[in-house]
Amino acid sequence: MALDAQLRRALAERIRYYNELGIYDFYRRSGPADEPSLADSAKDLFRSSDTPHLAGDSARAKLIQPEEREDMTRRAAVARRVRDENIFEVAADKPEYSVADPAKALKIIREDLGDCTRCVLHKQGRKQIVFGVGSPRAELMFIGEAPGADEDQQGEPFVGRAGQLLNNMIKAMGLQREDVYIANIIKCRPPGNRTPEREECETCSPFLMRQVAAIKPKVIVALGAVAAKTLLAINAPMAELRGHWYEFKPTGVRSDDPSWRGAKLAVTYHPAFLLRDPRQKKEAWKDLQMVMRELGLKPPARVAE
Ligand code: URA
Repeated sequence: MALDAQLRRALAERIRYYNELGIYDFYRRSGPADEPSLADSAKDLFRSSDTPHLAGDSARAKLIQPEEREDMTRRAAVARRVRDENIFEVAADKPEYSVADPAKALKIIREDLGDCTRCVLHKQGRKQIVFGVGSPRAELMFIGEAPGADEDQQGEPFVGRAGQLLNNMIKAMGLQREDVYIANIIKCRPPGNRTPEREECETCSPFLMRQVAAIKPKVIVALGAVAAKTLLAINAPMAELRGHWYEFKPTGVRSDDPSWRGAKLAVTYHPAFLLRDPRQKKEAWKDLQMVMRELGLKPPARVAE
């Protein structure tokens, strides 16, 4: 069947996206009746797979070097490298490169973002852009999925119920909210809090990459499946993503500090998931303890519930 040029381009683009997520093998299903559309498949990729999971004591901290990763992960890394070398994505100098002070760099990035209309979310009921909050010199950065109603209202990430729980998680680590930096993969609330679309993540995440490069955290914690899969370009269930260290370098940007070689990234459950299934809090606590060991943090004498 001859495909028209536009459809062929859209298909090539979608396949590239799957490749970046580590998916290479495509097959035709038996009949059209049970064949999902490409759009359905893409939704599946971004579906939150925060399924209950018992990592037990086997969830050992392990630094996964790109060359050591499992086959799927290795292929994702290769795809990412290919993408980085794509002539259309040659990293241009960014205005914040001229300043060393991370607070000033973040300000410049915020100004560059402006009253963003780069994706459809600007006309789908967002009240304001939720840029990120916290210390510009944070050693620890938390990255969630997208602002919800409270965040959209207040212009700050994680201020609703999930935010209260995140605050408690931060306190349990012996830190204050002001000590860390908190951001999301996308900066505008999707209508009805739906999962962000691929285009929205791809359009918005370059600004997050610049924020990461400006802050230069030691450790990033990806909150939930959408953040983890987007940052790592891996499509794997939470059960596989948690309990490991990943090396993370923001793509398409460079840091002003040549000694900063990227952050170590850990994955844990999204606080909203933990609110739905509090039994998983002890698993999340294991993830946070792994992070605390890395940062040399001791829990306070009394941990808030
Ligand atoms: N959920 C997120 O992922 N981010 C927020 O800022 C709030 C809720």
